[in-house]
Amino acid sequence: MSKSYDVVVIGAGPAGYIAAIRAAQLGMNVACIDEWKNTDGKNAFGGTCLNAGCIPSKALLESSELYYRAQHEFKKHGITTGDVEMDIAAMQKRRVSIVRQLTGGIAGLFKANKVDGLVGHGKLLAGKQVEFTPVDGESEVIAATNVILASGSAPIELGVAPFDSEKIVDSWDALEFDAVPATLGVIGAGVIGLELGSVWARLGAKVTIIEAMDDFLFMADRDVANVAAKDFKKQGLDIKLGAKMTSAKTGKNGVTVEYVDQSGTQSFDVEKLIVAVGRRPFTDGLLAEDSGIQLDERGFIVVDDECRTRVKGVYAIGDSVRGPMLAHKASEEGVMVADLIAGELAEVNYNVIPSVIYTAPEIAWVGKTEEEVKASGRPYKTGSFPFAANGRAKALEQTSGMVKVISASDDDEILGIHIVGPMAGELISEAVLALEFSASTEDLQRTIHAHPSLAEAIHEAALAADKRALNYMNR
Ligand code: FAD
Ligand code: NAI
Repeated sequence: MSKSYDVVVIGAGPAGYIAAIRAAQLGMNVACIDEWKNTDGKNAFGGTCLNAGCIPSKALLESSELYYRAQHEFKKHGITTGDVEMDIAAMQKRRVSIVRQLTGGIAGLFKANKVDGLVGHGKLLAGKQVEFTPVDGESEVIAATNVILASGSAPIELGVAPFDSEKIVDSWDALEFDAVPATLGVIGAGVIGLELGSVWARLGAKVTIIEAMDDFLFMADRDVANVAAKDFKKQGLDIKLGAKMTSAKTGKNGVTVEYVDQSGTQSFDVEKLIVAVGRRPFTDGLLAEDSGIQLDERGFIVVDDECRTRVKGVYAIGDSVRGPMLAHKASEEGVMVADLIAGELAEVNYNVIPSVIYTAPEIAWVGKTEEEVKASGRPYKTGSFPFAANGRAKALEQTSGMVKVISASDDDEILGIHIVGPMAGELISEAVLALEFSASTEDLQRTIHAHPSLAEAIHEAALAADKRALNYMNR
């Protein structure tokens, strides 16, 4: 007799593995299928996020930032070192070790929660049946009362710059370089372009980024984007805006990139080129023709606000459905769907999802930008506070950036908080909580913040919205 489960999850990235664990916590009999294989040939749970995304990129960002700071900041603290050297092999060994520990942790969590982690390919058939093909065995059909599709996303490949895994690479290959390229081109000044561009620039590569849009970080608040642009320029990142790549030709020594901007056709040569122009939903081989699941014109699985597909009992979550392609959004959808299957009340607040870019300075925001609030027509006020006036930031020698609070003038509700500066990705959690609780500016103003702390900049920015900042001139 074929196996049957209350829930079968296809995909063990942050969407799928969290859904599986939550469903098991709720007493369901769960299997989670995943086929991810790392470059060492080993299968691992955790999907893009743990193996080739969030975690390895943050490991390299940390290593490269420490190297950069040792060279550029230590002297100010009175620390003298000899020549600071970077051992790329050791840095990469650390990255691999962090990834292994975390992906191994998921296998452990599956065992502890009695989730059957199945290594291989999953395909949704009609009637909520799932065909499972193990990596080294025969296919079998598994029956499921509920199926959760969590197949994630893959990098978008440009026809004019096809990946060759050596000179023209995607973000995964760019995390695994075994030497610092002398020159590096990046197509796309989005999140990946900026994070990975920063890593290799800090380690010594001359980095040129070309971006099709005229505005830098078009999705971010303008004030924040402008501060960040200045800092990246100082760090030597050459970001060309309004530049569309027309061709990338590989030769013996690297890649010649041709692009068009306002001044016409231009070109530059680089040793390696990273293409980071966004990701596409990944559903290759996921759905039988008669599965009944609908894809939209961009290939996303069509779902409602509660991640239900058109087939009763089949849900889809994470990067393969609409919404921001972020690990925390994917995981929250996983929790919501497992709760809904168990008959509990659950929802995801799509208006309050934080964005973080882990560059130096970090950039983080939640809620609306000033441009969006202005366009909505609602009367508003803003308050900003620079880290240059924050004691902890001074002590950390990281004074670049600011916090900006945007609130409604009518009922004082906070509409958006934007941070560019040290540890913005950590600081933003206070802002997320404030928006989740529909806090007012006054709520933040009356909240006691520890001194000295970076978070005091949020407090002061909230005060500044009513021209009450205490440690800075109100304007
Ligand atoms: P994935 O993580 O892609 O997982 C999908 C899994 O499903 C994979 O393991 C895949 O092998 C498996 N799968 C697919 N189809 C099948 C099938 N038919 N059978 C079996 N298995 C299948 N987000 C953040 O929030 N913060 C960050 O700092 C961050 N950094 C990133 C850095 C980089 C370089 C990249 C590329 C992405 C980053 N992201 C970050 C985005 C984040 O990785 C994704 O949003 C997240 O991984 C989406 O989770 P998911 O579970 O939907 O998909
Ligand atoms: P992205 O959407 O962030 O940026 C892609 C950029 O490429 C855009 O600015 C776009 O205008 C530009 N572009 C597109 N086509 C172009 C062309 N032909 N020539 C020049 N520029 C072009 O996508 P990215 O950086 O690839 O990241 C993919 C996803 O991964 C993002 O949606 C992001 O959410 C997620 N991610 C999240 C991270 C985080 O949360 N810190 C880190 C890295 C990735």
